[in-house]
Amino acid sequence: MENLFKMLDLSATEITDILDLADQLKYERKHGISHKLLEGQKIGMIFEKSSTRTRISFEVGITELGATPLFLSSSDLQIGRGEPLCDTARVLGRYLDGIMIRTFKQSTVEDLAKYSGLGVINGLTDFSHPCQVLADLMTIREFKISFYNLKLCYVGDGNNMCNSLVVGALKVGMRVSIAVPKGYEPDATILEFAKEYGDKFEMTTKPEVAVKDADVIVTDVWTSMGQEDETQKRAEAFKGYCLTKDLLSAANKDYMVLHCLPAHREEEISAEVFEENAKYIFEEAENRLHAQKAVMVRLYQKRTQ
Ligand code: CP
Ligand code: NVA
Repeated sequence: MENLFKMLDLSATEITDILDLADQLKYERKHGISHKLLEGQKIGMIFEKSSTRTRISFEVGITELGATPLFLSSSDLQIGRGEPLCDTARVLGRYLDGIMIRTFKQSTVEDLAKYSGLGVINGLTDFSHPCQVLADLMTIREFKISFYNLKLCYVGDGNNMCNSLVVGALKVGMRVSIAVPKGYEPDATILEFAKEYGDKFEMTTKPEVAVKDADVIVTDVWTSMGQEDETQKRAEAFKGYCLTKDLLSAANKDYMVLHCLPAHREEEISAEVFEENAKYIFEEAENRLHAQKAVMVRLYQKRTQ
């Protein structure tokens, strides 16, 4: 594994390896065992969009691994004034040992790796959010012990989260159902991938059909970063897609709800459902830290150590 661009690139074995290492790093952190596995390295973090969890969990994780994080906002970098990415990347390649980037186009992440020569981690693009999905899978396994025989249901927009979850959940062996309004389906490449899984994947426009017998239910905002001018139109299109107690009554009795956050109460999730599932949702947020540390160890440890 040289980069983390998207879930489609990871094998089931690589996912399991990252989750196992993440569990170990979580255990060590809880027991005060230091793991400075990237001692002396410098990891850049480029942000072209806002962030709370990604920024802080990467910054803390890099520090705990003994490396130095550099927060690089596009509004401060010359990228924000038009310097081409291929030039910025070639410069960063000479200073840093690794880079995480949050940006718009998926191709920007891949170009950054190509021109910098560094291992690059996708911290969210319009197409995918692999770090979040690794944390989600870690959380599911933590509470449900195994992925065996589980059904994951996603209700909402066929966005970066949906694209990544469908792939990650199918790869680890879960059945997946998604409920998305017409016109808001996941990317065509994701639907093509899911086709290979036959009846283990189901897509509908009816949330009440998708949640039936689900063990894990996931949702995300209706309007992602960069889509703010569509907010009104989306609010109309997603009517009926709110995770309420009533909707979830069709799920398995011991269901858990995940949300990558930030959450909009009474839009994609009711305040009641959110609070009843807070123990899962905030463990999921914590697990960003452990999962990303595992990814960084796998990508960067052998480069200089
Ligand atoms: N879930 C997530 O990526 O959160 P941030 O946008 O706060 O980083
Ligand atoms: N789909 C959301 C995820 C935020 C973490 C967005 O892209 O804004």
